[in-house]
Amino acid sequence: MDYKIAVIPGDGIGPEIVREACKVLDVVGKKFGHKFCYTEVLMGGVSIDKTGVPLTDEALETAKASDSVLLGAVGGDVGKSNWYKLPPNLRPEAGLLAIRKGLGLFCNLRPAVLFPQLKKACPLKDELVGDGFDFVVVRELTGGVYFGKRETVTENGVRKATDTMPYDENEIRRIAKWAFEVAKKRKGHVTSVDKANVLDTSRLWRQVVKETAQEYNGIPLQDMLVDNCAMQLVKDPKQFDVILTENMFGDILSDEASMITGSIGMLASASLGETKLGLYEPSHGSAPDIAGKNIANPIATILSAAMMLRYSFDLEEEADCIEAAVNSVLDEGWRTADIMSEGCKLIGTKEMGDQIAERI
Ligand code: IPM
Ligand code: MG
Repeated sequence: MDYKIAVIPGDGIGPEIVREACKVLDVVGKKFGHKFCYTEVLMGGVSIDKTGVPLTDEALETAKASDSVLLGAVGGDVGKSNWYKLPPNLRPEAGLLAIRKGLGLFCNLRPAVLFPQLKKACPLKDELVGDGFDFVVVRELTGGVYFGKRETVTENGVRKATDTMPYDENEIRRIAKWAFEVAKKRKGHVTSVDKANVLDTSRLWRQVVKETAQEYNGIPLQDMLVDNCAMQLVKDPKQFDVILTENMFGDILSDEASMITGSIGMLASASLGETKLGLYEPSHGSAPDIAGKNIANPIATILSAAMMLRYSFDLEEEADCIEAAVNSVLDEGWRTADIMSEGCKLIGTKEMGDQIAERI
């Protein structure tokens, strides 16, 4: 079958890592008899440079008309890049928020798995990690403080900024359902993370998640405050299975979750909505400091492509095949710089893509 994929290389290391993911997809296509047709879409800083805006209507329409979207990363160096002299709604990240919202992708899945081969790269002590951990952060992606009203004003000579964090019960319920569905497949439990001791949105969150849990009785639900969760992640990561949380808490906790797996360069993500169309991107950013040096780790993007096959195209076997290829490359000791450890073999971005493609 033919699949239309909108490919957004984006900024920084984006083009390099996306190239490797497409290389792997092409080999999968050959092996299993599929055709992946790519249309390149501009987003982020490159789009600003060419069109003046981080995401044009046309680019969004191209993404909407495809079967799924593969994204590298967007953004530059906040201190140095001219993009950050623009008003906030015209900066690279605004393109990412606009495409998430425009495609209705309210559910962000960020798996955090400690690959046994990378145990040495994990910054936690052995006794905390035991035989590893495997959980997924289910982050609400199109609501909360990211999309609430904001303003900066000057009152009586004093500069004042406000961001608001709105959530309605429908937004909470639909993401909660996703979390319970994910937990059902994993035969696990849900930890819902909020700040209900302070925030109204969190108190509503807690109530609605509890109500939703009743439709899924049998799946245990635990509430946890976000500050405690940040601590528990480094104290006892094995306790988690599905972490359900709102947009900003999910942003922060998923970076923490990725780092305890050894490298942010390993973690994939999927952003999903009501239809099969999803957006797949690594959990990490555009890393402008290492862009163009062939040292970035493409594995998170390659694993994101695997998630695309699984969630958007229902190609389970093909997805498994990519994951198995990544595992065997790691087993054989091939490493990019971010996950390098003694006795392993250091390779670059392109070579890592080649290694994985070869094993498909
Ligand atoms: C992420 C990123 C984005 C976010 C930024 C680039 C807007 O940090 O995907 O986690 O905060 O959602
Ligand atoms: Mg983030």
